[in-house]
Amino acid sequence: MPIVIAIDGPAAAGKGTLARRLAAELGLPYLDTGLLYRAVGRRVLDGGGDPRDPAAAEAAARALDPSDLARDDLRGPEADAASSAVAAIPGVRSALFDFQRNFATLAGAVLDGRDIGTVIFPDASAKLFVTASPSERARRRWLELRGKGADAEVATVERELRDRDARDAARATAPLRPAEDAIEIDTSDLDAEAAFQAALAAVRRRLG
Ligand code: DC
Repeated sequence: MPIVIAIDGPAAAGKGTLARRLAAELGLPYLDTGLLYRAVGRRVLDGGGDPRDPAAAEAAARALDPSDLARDDLRGPEADAASSAVAAIPGVRSALFDFQRNFATLAGAVLDGRDIGTVIFPDASAKLFVTASPSERARRRWLELRGKGADAEVATVERELRDRDARDAARATAPLRPAEDAIEIDTSDLDAEAAFQAALAAVRRRLG
């Protein structure tokens, strides 16, 4: 199997930034798997459906087109909540399984998500579980929202993050949790550069 790096962790822990930099450093394609669930949630909302409805969500997942991942309305509180709701539906997860496996077939990949090391690539070459304290994650997400001109309260951002993590970790299918062989990186006290260096060193150790 080509090199596959699995990066999991809770919302806004810095997985995306890390994954993108690792992919560039190692010359691997990168897939943000959260976008798949976001695009499915968005499709359900577009059709006037409820993202918690298994039939509507599974149909949206089966109809997903790669071009959906380039939509510009996949971020923000509404998309956050819809993605987390569709992600709890087993039919949605199985509909997205092959897309994620196939993405890495040719040239390997770095993928970030919630179940990459546990379900999608239990055979990954290296697995990282990236975390940070809820207050630090909320602070970072709040700064990001503010940077985009959004008018958000840090307490509201933290409450929504905690709710989403609780839902992602409590679901029966592919809950958010570290794989047994994942290397945990807590980025609470690390800036982006230090987090990247720690992740790169951990991956290089695993790749040998
Ligand atoms: O990583 P993100 O915040 O963009 O993910 C959005 C939602 O999708 C998240 O709340 C849980 C779900 N998700 C998932 O269940 N499994 C993945 N591999 C990626 C995301």
